[in-house]
Amino acid sequence: MQDLLISKVQDESRQGEAFAPFLNDPSVYRKKFYIESYGCQMNFADSEIVASILNNSGFGATRNAEEADLVFLNTCSIREKAEQTVRKRLTEFRKAKQARPGLLVGVLGCMAERLKSKFLEEEKLVDIVVGPDAYRSLPGLIEEAEGGQKAVNVLLSREETYADIAPVRLDSNGVSAFVSIMRGCNNMCSFCVVPFTRGRERSRDAFSIVQECEALFNDGFKEVTLLGQNVDSYYFSGDNAETVTFAMLLEMVAKISPGLRVRFSTSHPKDITDDVLHTMEKYENICKYIHLPVQSGSSRILQLMNRTYTREWYMAKINRIREILPGCGISSDIIAGFCTETEEDHQDTLSIMQYSGYDLSYMFFYSERPGTLAQRRYKDDIPEAVKKRRLQEIVDLQNALSKQSNQKDLGKTFQVLIEGDSKKSDQDWMGRTSHNKVIVFPKHNYSLKKGDYAMVTVNDCTKATLLGEVQNN
Ligand code: SAH
Ligand code: SF4
Ligand code: F3S
Repeated sequence: MQDLLISKVQDESRQGEAFAPFLNDPSVYRKKFYIESYGCQMNFADSEIVASILNNSGFGATRNAEEADLVFLNTCSIREKAEQTVRKRLTEFRKAKQARPGLLVGVLGCMAERLKSKFLEEEKLVDIVVGPDAYRSLPGLIEEAEGGQKAVNVLLSREETYADIAPVRLDSNGVSAFVSIMRGCNNMCSFCVVPFTRGRERSRDAFSIVQECEALFNDGFKEVTLLGQNVDSYYFSGDNAETVTFAMLLEMVAKISPGLRVRFSTSHPKDITDDVLHTMEKYENICKYIHLPVQSGSSRILQLMNRTYTREWYMAKINRIREILPGCGISSDIIAGFCTETEEDHQDTLSIMQYSGYDLSYMFFYSERPGTLAQRRYKDDIPEAVKKRRLQEIVDLQNALSKQSNQKDLGKTFQVLIEGDSKKSDQDWMGRTSHNKVIVFPKHNYSLKKGDYAMVTVNDCTKATLLGEVQNN
């Protein structure tokens, strides 16, 4: 997450962000593309792969949609609202296309996968539809579309990990980068569309991951976040039958340099092992922060969600984390108003939030997705007003918990990685602690710069941000 603000929408601060990292030399690039990304960090990471593929085929990026020959929307299907946002954006590009007939519009990502060629019928002015495993075919599909044909490739793959493609770091702060370590998901949580849009789980070659992280460190990056829908089930088996588990991979990346911070997301509570927790304990540069989505605090609802753990099991996992990693930051995803949820189930969610003491949560109300197990098996029977009221109670509680968690940090000193100027003032730095809290502190006239580590003592806080002063300068 780029932003620690408590937010009802995942990555709200970045939704629809347009990428254009490099200056285009018109003599080098034959055409310009513009790409906008929605959804999770993995989709943002995929846009960097797409940019790399396009770049190698003679296309240059632009930040300005108006000067683009190709416009791509890398889309998300997780909730109905995410799809509505994309449809609205497409109608805007429809107008642009009428004004500029040569302009090609492409839909990438999860919505492309979910709707397939139906997209071309529904949104008549879309020219290209490409699913998450078919980005290598983009240059060919663009050629087809240039020739006036509609171009679609939504084949899912059991092998594709784009391991050999060096992502073009788009709109990067030069300090922190995301690295995909696996794709797809085998979990089949009943509410979730991801297994349908992203296909089967597969792990990327461990050595290509380490190489990419090393290259980032050599380029001056100080933090990598290893990404997957379920990172703890990472399992790579190389040619010589050597296997690499997630704990082993974490260690391999942590060993690159003590100066490189390592983060990861997302952990499914059923899969995070003691091995992973002990590896985190062993290496100071593995950040003490775990995103451990609970979804609901009621065992009955968890079973309907097919999460495969109970309330008690989740609580035991929280205890284990607190035991091995005292002070570790913990965050969650929560869904309000899943099918058949009673007030008692909802109270169970509130009480598990209290128990876990989350520093941060991403909170949503249930949105039925076509084709999912829940849509086929259960009725979406909680009235919208009830869903919204429960969600508001969850948000209010999280705000109180975040504030409490920040107040506990008052007077403490943390190592902070400086990411850049604070949003509000170029007189202040913004950075993050190991436990993933945003901290803002005055620059004064110290010789610190972006990408440096500083020891900062917390002297104040809001519910979303710590405020502090640099030590020992
Ligand atoms: N792989 C991650 C989550 C990916 S989706 C994990 O297992 O935790 C991110 C979050 O979106 C989920 O954790 C869930 O809280 C939410 N979400 C997924 N499907 C949803 C739906 N149909 N309605 C509302 N929220 C949903
Ligand atoms: Fe969806 Fe569950 Fe897979 Fe996460 S683990 S992506 S919620 S199916
Ligand atoms: Fe959305 Fe696809 Fe990610 S549905 S949350 S972009 S995996």
